[in-house]
Amino acid sequence: MRIILLGPPGAGKGTQAKTITGELGIPHISTGDILRKAIEEKTPLGLKAKEYMDKGHLVPDDLMIDLIKERIKKKDCEKGFLLDGFPRTIPQAQALEELSPIDKVIKIKIENDVAIERLSGRRTCKRCGAMYHVIYIPPRKEGICDRCGEELIIRDDDREEAILKRLEVYRKETRPLIEYYRKKGLLAIIDGGRRKEEVTRDLLVSIK
Ligand code: AP5
Repeated sequence: MRIILLGPPGAGKGTQAKTITGELGIPHISTGDILRKAIEEKTPLGLKAKEYMDKGHLVPDDLMIDLIKERIKKKDCEKGFLLDGFPRTIPQAQALEELSPIDKVIKIKIENDVAIERLSGRRTCKRCGAMYHVIYIPPRKEGICDRCGEELIIRDDDREEAILKRLEVYRKETRPLIEYYRKKGLLAIIDGGRRKEEVTRDLLVSIK
């Protein structure tokens, strides 16, 4: 199964992808996570990507297409994959089409004010990547990851200015993909503004 999760920043793509890929037995490919790791490791890709990401801009298409091309060639993608954060532009979607067939595209829909509230309260584990929200999905001990005990951090692009820019970029660059995939008959839409467990249940129904 080759799945794309679409949706604005804060829709819950990463949270849901981490939950369902174990059950589906396919890898979760988050371009945001790959880029953040590259930044941490100060690789050439990371150094290029950081200035775009911190401002809430998209990283150029050619870099992202090369990254995905290499990633989906790997052995763990033989039975499929779940893409979270790619494609984000029409040129990325067209390039993906040349690389691999896609079985399903699921858009997680949320309102703007919900996105802003979620991103402002997000906390991420800097070691294992687990995601929390200070109000809705809090860790058992404030500031500490339940899973691995590491400190939780606020992402550099979860500042108000960058959040608003990311939402604007989503509307301009990524939202056209909804029509693109609808025309191909691949699109399903799920209401992401509900409890995490309800969204997971609908996602699994939509996929199976
Ligand atoms: P990326 O990391 O992909 O960020 P994003 O798309 O902006 O998405 P987010 O991670 O912010 O949100 P999400 O939908 O995953 O929500 P989450 O589950 O975390 O990309 C970052 C940057 O990298 C981009 O801005 C760009 O610069 C670059 N980039 C990446 N891919 C690119 C590409 N293809 N092309 C060009 N540039 C690219 O949840 C958010 C919060 O809500 C969390 O706190 C969570 O705990 C909470 N939450 C989740 N679900 C619920 C729920 N149901 N109820 C209550 N709270 C919830």
